[in-house]
Amino acid sequence: MTAQLNPRGDVAVLVPAAGAGVRLGPGAPKALRRLGGEPLLTHAVRRVAAAPSVHSIVVAAPATEVAAVRELLAPVAEVTVVPGGATRQASVAAALAAVPAGPEIILVHDAARALTPAALVESVAAAVRAGAEAVIPVLPVVDTIKEVSADEVVLGTVDRAALRAVQTPQGFRRAVLTAAHAAAVDPLTDDAGLVEKQGVRVVCVPGSEYALKITRPFDLALAEYLLGSAPVAGQS
Ligand code: CTP
Ligand code: MG
Repeated sequence: MTAQLNPRGDVAVLVPAAGAGVRLGPGAPKALRRLGGEPLLTHAVRRVAAAPSVHSIVVAAPATEVAAVRELLAPVAEVTVVPGGATRQASVAAALAAVPAGPEIILVHDAARALTPAALVESVAAAVRAGAEAVIPVLPVVDTIKEVSADEVVLGTVDRAALRAVQTPQGFRRAVLTAAHAAAVDPLTDDAGLVEKQGVRVVCVPGSEYALKITRPFDLALAEYLLGSAPVAGQS
């Protein structure tokens, strides 16, 4: 069933999905790899579309797969599909350029975080709506973290209490994200990194274990296991 987005919503969600998935091993581009019989991208978009504030969704697809991705997502939700770029940052920039006028809150969300519940999309958007310029969902770091030299000798132990693992969706006031991308020089792996460079205050909200990034084969196996219990709209 095609999800209806909210024409009065104030949130646009950019979904970078143009990566190859090298770390997942040989096969289709990662966003098109299957989880429970459906592409990762379908799972991710279905959950984003279930968030009541979402007005529009722009997907950056692998350049050779734009038509296929349009066809794939047509029954899921009304989405705009653009060709992505050579880096995640270039893909986000391409999607940002295609956001319609209206939404003043922009979220950027990895297709690879296929099981992210709609509730997390809403809580990140709510924090921006409440006044934050930039918002990231985070989890505490559970492992002890060591800093090491190039030859794998321990240099020291980092204070774990002050560390957070960062997820997506990351949320921004529209003008803040647009300015950060316009000023970007070196590609970074997340958008909050770009706005940090602009001196913008980035605030944290609690993340979700279900928002894990599917990166390696183990993660895909874990996501298969979680699929049965993963909420679409419910609690994060
Ligand atoms: N991404 C993108 N365009 C790129 C590279 C990455 O849109 N040129 C997207 C991926 O599709 C993914 C998200 O950014 O949804 C996070 O990237 P990552 O997990 O690193 O995915 P891949 O780059 O596909 O994986 P790998 O690095 O293992 O090749
Ligand atoms: Mg990558």
